[in-house]
Amino acid sequence: MSLPLSGAALDAAIAQSVATLKSSFGEKAPEVAVVLGSGWSGAIHQLQDAKHLAYAQLPAFPQPKVEGHVAEIAVGQVGEQRVAMLRGRAHTYESGDCTGMAGAIRSLKAWGVKLLLLTNASGSLRSHLPPGSLMLIADHINAPQRSPLIGQPGNDRFTDMSAAYDPELREHAKKVARAHNLAVGEGTYVWALGPQFETPAEIRMFSAWGADAVGMSTVPETILARHAGLRVMGLALMTNMAAGLSEEALTHALTLQQAQLSGERAANYLGWVLGSLAQVESLRS
Ligand code: HPA
Repeated sequence: MSLPLSGAALDAAIAQSVATLKSSFGEKAPEVAVVLGSGWSGAIHQLQDAKHLAYAQLPAFPQPKVEGHVAEIAVGQVGEQRVAMLRGRAHTYESGDCTGMAGAIRSLKAWGVKLLLLTNASGSLRSHLPPGSLMLIADHINAPQRSPLIGQPGNDRFTDMSAAYDPELREHAKKVARAHNLAVGEGTYVWALGPQFETPAEIRMFSAWGADAVGMSTVPETILARHAGLRVMGLALMTNMAAGLSEEALTHALTLQQAQLSGERAANYLGWVLGSLAQVESLRS
């Protein structure tokens, strides 16, 4: 992804992106947008009657540098629920800048989206969450202490993060897991900048801090979304035990392999959660 825009250029790109989203998918936004992380891309097949639009048409969205990488938004139905799915996210490790998703998230909010559901692949710090497990994110630790809100004007930059991962929607997601007899954990996600994996000493420290899963995304997006006034849900797919917790050396290939193995279950669960969101009174417009 290329370097993010900022200031007036970002505002103009957002206005243009919102206009294009409306002309492509309709004035009325879907209530829910999902960012599909590694391991979750199969969930795109949960969308019925989907229409697709490349990020290249949306100047506020992250622009992929590598040709062939999927970078698009798709809008369709999951059961009764109209949903936008975003394939392709900017990671801080690509540029050092943690604001890469600001334009996309603010465009979704300006269009009328109410809930941002963030998915990712994570390393597990807990033996009860082996590779292949799913975890609802209940809270996060911003280990790098980097903020995408640096330089934002106004008092709303002092964003409340005390219930960032919506408690009501988490309860709903747990109910859905129980109804489908699926074990879904709940825990704290710690953001590591990457792109190198963590050291075993770092993982021991994160574990002592109370983290259950570690990954290189999600946290800046949650901060941006809460600042924008969106509700947030987070779902992590464990692709490996974190550094030092298993005999295996950590490689990107290993995490992708596990993501592929468990991707179908993750996608099914996501589909069940999305398809039943219409039951959540507070999300109805
Ligand atoms: N560490 C950081 N990010 C990750 C990991 C990990 O072990 N697995 C998948 N994403």
